[in-house]
Amino acid sequence: MTDYSSQYQAYLRQAEDALAALCEKYLPESSEVCRAARYSLLGGGKRVRAVLVLAVCDMLKGDMEAAAWFAGALEMVHCYSLIHDDLPCMDNDDFRRGRPSCHKAFSESTAMLAGDALLTAAFSVLSESPAPDGVRVAAVQELASGAGAAGGMILGQELDLYHETIPATAGQLLEIHRRKTGALINAAVQLGAAAAQASAQVKDRLRQYAFDVGLVFQIVDDVLDVTSTSQQLGKPVGSDEQNNKTTFVTLYGTEGAMEHAQVINRRACDAMEQEFGEKAAFLVEFARRLLQRQN
Ligand code: IPE
Ligand code: IPE
Ligand code: MG
Ligand code: MG
Ligand code: MG
Repeated sequence: MTDYSSQYQAYLRQAEDALAALCEKYLPESSEVCRAARYSLLGGGKRVRAVLVLAVCDMLKGDMEAAAWFAGALEMVHCYSLIHDDLPCMDNDDFRRGRPSCHKAFSESTAMLAGDALLTAAFSVLSESPAPDGVRVAAVQELASGAGAAGGMILGQELDLYHETIPATAGQLLEIHRRKTGALINAAVQLGAAAAQASAQVKDRLRQYAFDVGLVFQIVDDVLDVTSTSQQLGKPVGSDEQNNKTTFVTLYGTEGAMEHAQVINRRACDAMEQEFGEKAAFLVEFARRLLQRQN
């Protein structure tokens, strides 16, 4: 699959270039909070969400320049969610992306503000992106609802923390994963679709793919927390057990969890192929690799 790999590398380069340029403009190094935000934002990360924005836009023959801005904004929000997720009052994890977490490299209050700064900058980026007004408004709506407390990532994090003391049922765990991880993955595909001014029907099909991919992504994250090493992951392992989380592993074991992930992955890929045929090749391979990822 060299086609896939070179395409992936091209998207990654586009995403990294966009992030570097956006940092210059929106996170000036003159402040400690911005330096902390840049430390976390530019210090690695797989950029899965940015690649998804670009790949969806490309598949739909959309505006790739706008998509690069959208991808940068989304990675800012994702990075903010990680900085806050690692804080002592949340998962209390000291390593992220192979380095001390933001609150360890800086102070807790600086890390909190760095997260706030990234969230705020993301919406400046969207509102000032080179796209028609309607497209920019759609992008703001998608990112706000994917990240938000009404049904997005913040709600997922709230439920995740709530269920540290009251174990989640299988249904509740699906809801947690759908919100805390699926909602931002869906924001990624919807931002790509917005940059391509896609129809409501296309957006609906992409939403099904996104939530399935998001669920697989979080199941694999739960499994790796048990089976991998901190060196391989660049973040602590055993964090979920330490925090008393209900995960796919506590409910089904590692093998059972991966079987669930395989079934969901198959469903996502079949639906994409049915809807978009050959054009879906990249997104199908992307989903398959997320199932098999080792970090
Ligand atoms: C980690 O996301 C948080 C989850 C939703 C599981 P990633 O695994 O995408 O983290 P980075 O961006 O590559 O560090
Ligand atoms: C976090 O899930 C999802 C976010 C919204 C950040 P986890 O808490 O499992 O993510 P990691 O394992 O710390 O990356
Ligand atoms: Mg967490
Ligand atoms: Mg965590
Ligand atoms: Mg995890």
